[in-house]
Amino acid sequence: MVKKSNHITWHHSSVTKADRHVLNGHKSCVLWFTGLSGSGKSTLANAVDQALFQRGIHSYVLDGDNVRHGLNRDLQFNKEDRSENIRRIGEVAKLFVDSGQIVSAAFISPYLADRQLVRNMFEPGEFIEIYLNCPIQVCEDRDPKGLYEKARKGEIPEFTGISSPYEIPKHPEIIIESHRESIEEAVHKIITYLEDRKIL
Ligand code: PPS
Repeated sequence: MVKKSNHITWHHSSVTKADRHVLNGHKSCVLWFTGLSGSGKSTLANAVDQALFQRGIHSYVLDGDNVRHGLNRDLQFNKEDRSENIRRIGEVAKLFVDSGQIVSAAFISPYLADRQLVRNMFEPGEFIEIYLNCPIQVCEDRDPKGLYEKARKGEIPEFTGISSPYEIPKHPEIIIESHRESIEEAVHKIITYLEDRKIL
């Protein structure tokens, strides 16, 4: 990681995050979906985004595969690059939250320390970790992109759950048993969480 210059100054915007919350009629936060490949992160993040959109909430999805096509195209899947991937996404998510939106971030984000680093970027209550708890056997049976099959054959190095670790969240705000709960149930659980905390 390149070190920050000592000759830069933070400029505060005159329209504050609180101003944007008043304009939008809801607060902003990051819904951080973490879990194995094939656990349903992108599907659920998109379903939540759709539900929020239908209610007139300002929201957006940041997704692993997509971000790696552009902003993070220089990063691979070794530990160091995954950490840098998550750090950059955290900073982007922070900009979205500052702009008053609810951002759904769907990344494997396998390391506890990386997720904690992102959590620390936010104010209390703004970072909502959603763990998609799904047995690897189920993810592997689904194998929507055929990646597990390739990883088993040794064609993809450092594949999460096969040849690279996934560190289970210790205190996630929400756990979704994605092999047991329907998408509708999971969306309802997340929207209810946001309502209970007066984010919506
Ligand atoms: S990470 O670990 O958070 O940096 O990964 P992320 O940015 O979410 O990217 C995960 C998607 O990249 C594809 N892919 C791999 N996943 C895991 N391990 C390896 N080695 C790998 N190589 C490519 C895969 O499509 C992941 O998408 P999802 O949606 O999780 O299946």
